[in-house]
Amino acid sequence: MAIIDPKYSIGIPEMDAQHARWIRLIEEFKAAATGHLLDQARVSAAQHALEQLLEYTRVHFASEEQLIAAHRFPDIAAHKAKHRELEAQVGKLLDEIRVHKTNTTPLKLNLFVTIWLMDHIMSDDAKYARFILGKE
Ligand SMILES: [Fe+2]
Ligand SMILES: [Fe+2]
Repeated sequence: MAIIDPKYSIGIPEMDAQHARWIRLIEEFKAAATGHLLDQARVSAAQHALEQLLEYTRVHFASEEQLIAAHRFPDIAAHKAKHRELEAQVGKLLDEIRVHKTNTTPLKLNLFVTIWLMDHIMSDDAKYARFILGKE
Protein backbone atom coordinates (compact mmCIF):
# COMPACT_ATOMS: atom_id res chain seq x y z
CA MET A 1 0.00 0.00 0.00
CA ALA A 2 1.15 3.48 -0.82
CA ILE A 3 1.97 5.72 2.14
CA ILE A 4 0.03 8.96 2.46
CA ASP A 5 1.63 12.25 3.45
CA PRO A 6 0.16 12.71 6.99
CA LYS A 7 -1.17 16.14 6.05
CA TYR A 8 -3.54 14.49 3.57
CA SER A 9 -4.58 11.63 5.83
CA ILE A 10 -8.30 11.36 6.58
CA GLY A 11 -7.74 8.55 9.08
CA ILE A 12 -9.24 5.68 7.06
CA PRO A 13 -6.30 3.47 5.96
CA GLU A 14 -7.88 2.06 2.79
CA MET A 15 -8.84 5.52 1.52
CA ASP A 16 -5.51 7.00 2.61
CA ALA A 17 -3.73 4.36 0.53
CA GLN A 18 -5.90 5.12 -2.50
CA HIS A 19 -5.40 8.86 -2.01
CA ALA A 20 -1.63 8.33 -1.86
CA ARG A 21 -1.71 6.57 -5.23
CA TRP A 22 -4.09 9.19 -6.63
CA ILE A 23 -1.89 12.08 -5.44
CA ARG A 24 1.10 10.43 -7.08
CA LEU A 25 -0.80 10.33 -10.39
CA ILE A 26 -1.80 13.99 -9.94
CA GLU A 27 1.86 14.90 -9.34
CA GLU A 28 2.96 12.87 -12.37
CA PHE A 29 0.45 14.68 -14.55
CA LYS A 30 1.52 18.08 -13.19
CA ALA A 31 5.17 17.24 -13.84
CA ALA A 32 4.37 16.10 -17.40
CA ALA A 33 2.19 19.13 -18.14
CA THR A 34 4.45 21.85 -16.78
CA GLY A 35 5.57 24.52 -19.18
CA HIS A 36 4.66 24.79 -22.83
CA LEU A 37 3.81 21.59 -24.60
CA LEU A 38 5.59 22.49 -27.79
CA ASP A 39 6.60 19.10 -29.00
CA GLN A 40 4.56 16.03 -29.66
CA ALA A 41 6.47 13.81 -27.27
CA ARG A 42 5.67 16.09 -24.34
CA VAL A 43 2.02 16.40 -25.34
CA SER A 44 1.80 12.62 -25.51
CA ALA A 45 3.43 12.25 -22.10
CA ALA A 46 1.00 14.75 -20.55
CA GLN A 47 -1.95 13.09 -22.26
CA HIS A 48 -0.86 9.65 -21.09
CA ALA A 49 -0.41 10.86 -17.51
CA LEU A 50 -3.86 12.45 -17.58
CA GLU A 51 -5.44 9.27 -18.97
CA GLN A 52 -3.90 7.32 -16.09
CA LEU A 53 -5.16 9.93 -13.64
CA LEU A 54 -8.71 9.83 -15.03
CA GLU A 55 -8.78 6.05 -14.96
CA TYR A 56 -7.67 5.86 -11.35
CA THR A 57 -9.96 8.75 -10.39
CA ARG A 58 -12.92 6.63 -11.53
CA VAL A 59 -11.64 3.57 -9.64
CA HIS A 60 -11.09 5.55 -6.46
CA PHE A 61 -14.42 7.37 -6.61
CA ALA A 62 -16.33 4.11 -7.13
CA SER A 63 -14.55 2.53 -4.18
CA GLU A 64 -15.20 5.56 -1.99
CA GLU A 65 -18.88 5.70 -2.96
CA GLN A 66 -19.25 2.05 -1.93
CA LEU A 67 -17.65 2.80 1.43
CA ILE A 68 -19.82 5.82 2.25
CA ALA A 69 -22.96 3.99 1.09
CA ALA A 70 -22.10 1.06 3.37
CA HIS A 71 -21.79 3.50 6.29
CA ARG A 72 -24.97 5.34 5.32
CA PHE A 73 -23.21 8.69 5.08
CA PRO A 74 -26.06 11.24 4.94
CA ASP A 75 -24.47 13.55 2.34
CA ILE A 76 -23.77 10.76 -0.16
CA ALA A 77 -25.78 12.37 -2.99
CA ALA A 78 -23.83 15.63 -2.77
CA HIS A 79 -20.56 13.75 -2.51
CA LYS A 80 -21.34 11.65 -5.59
CA ALA A 81 -22.34 14.79 -7.49
CA LYS A 82 -18.97 16.31 -6.60
CA HIS A 83 -17.22 13.19 -7.92
CA ARG A 84 -19.12 13.37 -11.23
CA GLU A 85 -18.19 17.06 -11.50
CA LEU A 86 -14.50 16.37 -10.86
CA GLU A 87 -14.48 13.47 -13.35
CA ALA A 88 -16.06 15.78 -15.92
CA GLN A 89 -13.37 18.43 -15.28
CA VAL A 90 -10.56 15.93 -15.73
CA GLY A 91 -12.29 14.49 -18.81
CA LYS A 92 -12.68 17.95 -20.30
CA LEU A 93 -9.02 18.68 -19.75
CA LEU A 94 -8.14 15.40 -21.42
CA ASP A 95 -10.33 16.29 -24.41
CA GLU A 96 -8.62 19.66 -24.69
CA ILE A 97 -5.19 18.11 -24.71
CA ARG A 98 -6.30 15.52 -27.26
CA VAL A 99 -7.92 18.05 -29.56
CA HIS A 100 -5.69 21.07 -29.26
CA LYS A 101 -2.37 19.30 -28.80
CA THR A 102 0.00 22.22 -28.38
CA ASN A 103 -2.54 24.71 -27.05
CA THR A 104 -1.41 26.21 -23.76
CA THR A 105 -4.96 26.51 -22.36
CA PRO A 106 -4.92 23.05 -20.76
CA LEU A 107 -1.71 23.99 -18.97
CA LYS A 108 -3.32 27.01 -17.42
CA LEU A 109 -6.26 24.88 -16.39
CA ASN A 110 -4.33 21.91 -15.11
CA LEU A 111 -3.23 23.59 -11.93
CA PHE A 112 -6.81 24.50 -11.08
CA VAL A 113 -8.05 20.98 -11.75
CA THR A 114 -5.33 19.39 -9.65
CA ILE A 115 -5.95 21.92 -6.87
CA TRP A 116 -9.65 20.98 -6.89
CA LEU A 117 -8.79 17.29 -6.71
CA MET A 118 -6.53 17.85 -3.71
CA ASP A 119 -9.06 20.17 -2.11
CA HIS A 120 -11.69 17.44 -2.42
CA ILE A 121 -9.65 15.20 -0.11
CA MET A 122 -9.11 17.90 2.45
CA SER A 123 -12.67 19.23 2.54
CA ASP A 124 -15.24 16.72 1.25
CA ASP A 125 -13.48 13.44 2.00
CA ALA A 126 -12.48 14.64 5.46
CA LYS A 127 -16.22 15.12 6.18
CA TYR A 128 -17.29 11.54 5.46
CA ALA A 129 -14.21 10.34 7.37
CA ARG A 130 -15.29 12.28 10.47
CA PHE A 131 -18.75 10.77 10.12
CA ILE A 132 -17.46 7.20 9.68
CA LEU A 133 -14.98 7.58 12.52
CA GLY A 134 -17.79 8.84 14.75
CA LYS A 135 -16.32 12.28 15.21
CA GLU A 136 -19.36 14.13 13.94
FE1 LIG B 1 -11.29 10.50 -2.11
FE1 LIG C 1 -14.52 11.87 -2.51
